[in-house]
Amino acid sequence: MTVINGNNGHNGHNGNGGRNLHHAGNGNGANGNGHNRVMKDSHETNAHNHTVPFLDLVTPHLQLEEELISTFKKALCSAAFIGGAMVENFEKSFADYCAAEYCVGVSSGTDALRFALTATGVNLGDVVITVPNTFIATTEAISQAGAHIEFVDVDDHIYNMDPEKLREFLETRCRLDPANGRLVTRKENRRVAAVVPVHLYGQTVDMDPILELAERYGFVVIEDACQAHGAEYFSQRENRWRKAGSMGRAAAFSFYPGKNLGACGEAGATTTNDETVARRIRMLRDHGQSRKYHHEIEGYNGRLDAIQAGFLQVKLNHLDSWNEQRRQRAQTYRSLLLPLAEDVVVRNDAPWAKAVHHLFVVCVEDRDELITKLAQDGIGTGIHYPVPLHLQNAYRHLAYKEGDFPVAERLSKQIVSLPMYPNLTLEQQTRVVAKLQEFVAREPESVLLAV
Ligand SMILES: Cc1ncc(COP(=O)(O)O)c(C=O)c1O
Repeated sequence: MTVINGNNGHNGHNGNGGRNLHHAGNGNGANGNGHNRVMKDSHETNAHNHTVPFLDLVTPHLQLEEELISTFKKALCSAAFIGGAMVENFEKSFADYCAAEYCVGVSSGTDALRFALTATGVNLGDVVITVPNTFIATTEAISQAGAHIEFVDVDDHIYNMDPEKLREFLETRCRLDPANGRLVTRKENRRVAAVVPVHLYGQTVDMDPILELAERYGFVVIEDACQAHGAEYFSQRENRWRKAGSMGRAAAFSFYPGKNLGACGEAGATTTNDETVARRIRMLRDHGQSRKYHHEIEGYNGRLDAIQAGFLQVKLNHLDSWNEQRRQRAQTYRSLLLPLAEDVVVRNDAPWAKAVHHLFVVCVEDRDELITKLAQDGIGTGIHYPVPLHLQNAYRHLAYKEGDFPVAERLSKQIVSLPMYPNLTLEQQTRVVAKLQEFVAREPESVLLAV
């Protein structure tokens, strides 16, 4: 089979193949140019030239080529490009997949999050709390919903929202307004309307304590599940596994091409068990219409493209097996990295999570030198994320400073994402770890930090 290997370079930043590369890093092989190269067989050729791209988006698309093309032809024949059966079928399938009552397809994960916040009652000037270790879309959605961003730090084990730090924030920085019993911030008297835990890297946040706090204080929880399609959480209070996207009042998914379930362009979805929220999101994505040219509110042009919905339907059938392959590759990395345990910090999955390993992230000292070295050896890597959000220029007006969120800050200096995708071969993984080992051996003075 003819296989094009490497990344599709669609984001144009670093010439990398997936959105998660656009923030930093080198997603390409030795040549680092990100151009598609037609190859006889990806693995054979990789083995030959020893490159290990950070992401291979081309192989799975060529494997599904016929189905994708016939979906496209179907759309051409019906000309139902906006809305229609393809969108509705996918929404139904994805809701079922997430064990949620409703799914509303939208045009991106960012829109999904923004619409979810607005539809669940976040208003101008409210506070929404999230973490500094996430992609900026999380906080863009908060600001663009009119709310004020507050951060709590991540934990130092799975690098996600630390429920204890959330509790501390609520108890020390907020108070109950005696006039209406609502939780407001002490400093600015803003209503705490929502919390956005981010299931980063495909690992579910510890949701039980966050949902308990939400019940106690009356805020909504909106899951940012943009990196967690199919991830699961074991809820002790319910004594059952729960799917990412089914736990909060609503959840946001991105189908950016590099995600575990990715479209062939931009796409996203919200899931919810709340019919009113689903109805509001349907209006928000479609200019606030309840029916054609009857606008209940001012909305957006944020619909899911029907062709993308069709492509997503095809790919959804493969998501469980792709996620399983990712899990196996994570296990392989862990075994291969075990002898380097003093130098490379590799975390196990959280005990409550069935992770889907959107990214495989390790911590090392001298991270930037390691990335350069691996790039010279033809190994692509990424950093998710190199600057925690509270220190981004975009948020200078929020007046955070270095030291405010020490775990997120330390991670931003040490984390490196290794190549991770379903068709990554054992040979490629062995090569990545061998090169990591060489780096560690060459830099005896670089004592790697445990986080
Ligand atoms: C954690 C997180 N939130 C939100 C988004 C936004 O999704 P999209 O790029 O589809 O707007 C992404 C995608 O990169 C993400 O990784």
